Amino acid sequence: MSNICRERLDRLLSRLGYGTRKQVAAWVRQGLIEVNGEPAVAASQKVDPACVCVNGEVLDFPYGLTVLYHKPVGAVCSHREQGRLIYDDFPLRWSQRKPPFSSVGRLDKETSGLLIVTDNGQLNHALTSPKHGIGKTYRARLARPLRGDEIELFASGHLLLEGEQTPCLPAQAVRLGEYEMDITVFEGRYHQIRRMFAAVGNHVEALHRRAIGALTLDALALAEGEFRVVDETTLLTWIEHGIAA
Ligand code: URA
Repeated sequence: MSNICRERLDRLLSRLGYGTRKQVAAWVRQGLIEVNGEPAVAASQKVDPACVCVNGEVLDFPYGLTVLYHKPVGAVCSHREQGRLIYDDFPLRWSQRKPPFSSVGRLDKETSGLLIVTDNGQLNHALTSPKHGIGKTYRARLARPLRGDEIELFASGHLLLEGEQTPCLPAQAVRLGEYEMDITVFEGRYHQIRRMFAAVGNHVEALHRRAIGALTLDALALAEGEFRVVDETTLLTWIEHGIAA
């Protein structure tokens, strides 16, 4: 049999967050692991991930894990901070995976909305790099009435955020009311939307990410704190074209 895609059992289970290599060796001795329906013989044996069961169950996403998630207000995009973390909404094992299962960019604690979380570093990079020009659309509720020149200023490519030397890339904004705007940005600076409105003398009271590219949270119909596992090809199609009705 070919060795392509085959990997040591202990390495596989430790990178998928099941346990340490030592624990895997103990589970093999206890007969808790099966390979092709037969008890595993050694922690060092080379296996095809699709043929392994632990406690009678197939492995959790052995070929990569990407999810679409509705981040609630109050959850923090960090593996380490105190308080409520976005990772509390996923199975504990996923936080032990290598490469790490991490959010694509971050949303502030007080921002809600669509977030992608993945263990695929290349995908993460492709979705965040301004080179790929993927828009992220936010709805902002403001403390003060719009002045009237925000759409032009945001689109101008001349807007400077406090403390920065390089102006923001042109952004698209749509006025929804005196105190509300949708705004699409093509880069991801720290607290970008809040700082863009601060630069025009306003203050964001509530911020929600509605879409990444053409993929909207409405179309996904995820409640706050809910997630959906998605394969990479489907995700990229949805980001480009949206979800077909
Ligand atoms: N801009 C912000 O100000 N906060 C976010 O969470 C995302 C974009």
